[in-house]
Amino acid sequence: MEAGGKTATRPRRGEQLEVEIDSLAFGGRGVARVGGYVVFVSGGLPGDLVKAEITKPKRRFAEARAVELLRPGADRVANRCLHEGEPCPGAPWQGLAYEQQLIHKRDQVDEALRRIGGLDGFELEEIEPALEQWRYRNKLEYSFGAREDGETVLGFHASGRWDLVVGVEDCLLASERGNAARNEVREWAREESVAPYDRPAGTGVLCNLVVREGRRGGQIQTRLVTTPKRFPKPPVDLHTVVDDGSGGSEGPTGVLGEEWLREQLCGLDFEMSHNAFFQTNTEMAERLYAVAAEYAGLSGGERVFDLYCGIGTIGLTMAGRAGEVWGLEIVPEAIADAERNAERNGIGNAHFMAGSARTGVRPLLEQAGKPDVVLLDPPRSGLSQKIVRRVLECEAKRIVYVSCNPTTLAPNAAQLVEAGYTLRRVRPVDMFPQTPHIECVALLEKA
Ligand SMILES: C[S@@+](CC[C@H](N)C(=O)[O-])C[C@H]1O[C@@H](n2cnc3c(N)ncnc32)[C@H](O)[C@@H]1O
Repeated sequence: MEAGGKTATRPRRGEQLEVEIDSLAFGGRGVARVGGYVVFVSGGLPGDLVKAEITKPKRRFAEARAVELLRPGADRVANRCLHEGEPCPGAPWQGLAYEQQLIHKRDQVDEALRRIGGLDGFELEEIEPALEQWRYRNKLEYSFGAREDGETVLGFHASGRWDLVVGVEDCLLASERGNAARNEVREWAREESVAPYDRPAGTGVLCNLVVREGRRGGQIQTRLVTTPKRFPKPPVDLHTVVDDGSGGSEGPTGVLGEEWLREQLCGLDFEMSHNAFFQTNTEMAERLYAVAAEYAGLSGGERVFDLYCGIGTIGLTMAGRAGEVWGLEIVPEAIADAERNAERNGIGNAHFMAGSARTGVRPLLEQAGKPDVVLLDPPRSGLSQKIVRRVLECEAKRIVYVSCNPTTLAPNAAQLVEAGYTLRRVRPVDMFPQTPHIECVALLEKA
C-alpha cells in the first residue's frame, strides 16, 4: 500500500505504514487516509505523522496502533503520565492540549446528534471544562502481573496486551492517597510472596485491585480480587474471590475493613456498596447534576422518575425541589444504598424500586402514576427500542437525558423526537480529561 496514493491492496496484519492523522474518531483514535482507505490509529493525534502497525485489516478500513511518532502534530503537548516509560493507557488523549480536547468533545457531540441522529434546531451549549485536569478519578482498577525477572507488578495492561502488565508507581489520574494505597498492597504481595495470577498457566492468586476514594472525607477503600487459593491476610478492606482470573472482578466478597464507601455530593451524604455505580469524578458529578437540575426546571410539586438511578444520587439531590422522586435501578444493592441514603439525609419524598428499565417502568407507572419529568442516565449502550417505548408511555413533559455516549444518545434522541418531543438543549460536561470519553446532558420537551 502506498501512503497518500491509490489503495493498492488491503494492508496485511503487522504491516507498518507511514501515515498522517487528520482527525479523531468517536472513541478517540486518530483517523488517517491512505488513498480512499481509512486507518484508525490508536495513539495517533491530529497532525501527527506516525509509523502505524496494522492490527486488524478489513475490506474498507483497518485498525492500527502508532509504534513511532515521526513528527508531532502542532497541538501536541508532552505526555505527563507515564508508566515504565509508556504513556498511561488510562489517559490516551494526554498528548492533546486540554483546550483542544474540549473542542473535539463538543464537536463530536454535535456531529453525533446531526449525523447519526439526523437532528438539528437544538442549542449546543458550551462544554463545561473539568475543575481538575489530573488526579480527578475516585476509582481505578489495577491488574497484577509479573516482570521478566519475576518481580510482582501492579498496574495497567499495556495497550492491546492482555498478557503484559505495566507497573504503576504514580498514576496522575489517581490522588496521591490512592497511589499510596495501591503501592502498599503491591509491597505486601512482594514481601509475602503471593503470586500474581498467570492466565495462560492458570496458576497464581492475585488478579486485580480496585481502589476507590471518598474524596470529601479522605476515605480510601481497597478491594482485592483473587482466585480461591489460600494466602496470608491482605491489607485491604474487601476481598472478592473469582473462579479464575480471566472472568472479571465480581464474585463473593468478604469484608476485612471498611464495607461502605462514603462520599458527600451536593451537600448530601452518600454511602455505597462496592458493586454500586458511582460517578468516577466526584467534583464534576456535582457540575453534571447541576446541569441536570437546571434542565429539569423543577418548581416544587413535580413527580420525577430517576431511571438508572444507581445509589439515588441524581434524584436525591433534586428531591428538595420536587414533589416526589421515584428511582429505578437494576442492581439491588444500589437500591438498598439509595433507600439508606434517603433516610440518612432525612429525605421522605424519594422512593426506589429494584428492576430493569425494560420491565420496571410499567410497574412504576402503576404504583406512582405518570411523572412530569423523566431523568435518564443509562450505561454506554443507551436505551433499547423497547425502553424508549416504555419512556414514551410515561408521557412526561420533560426528559433530561444524561449520556456518557453521544453515539447512543443520538439515535435515542431521534426516536423521542420522532414520537413528538423536541430536542431543546445539549451541554457537554468534561468528566474525563485526558481521555476521549464524553458526557453530556440533553433536554427534550413535549411540544
Ligand atoms: C451511568 S450509571 C448512572 C447511575 C446514577 N444515575 C449516577 O449518576 O450515579 C447507570 C446505572 O444504570 C444501571 N443499569 C444498567 N442497566 C440497567 C437496566 N437495564 N435497567 C435499570 N438500570 C440499569 C447500572 O447499574 C448503573 O447504576
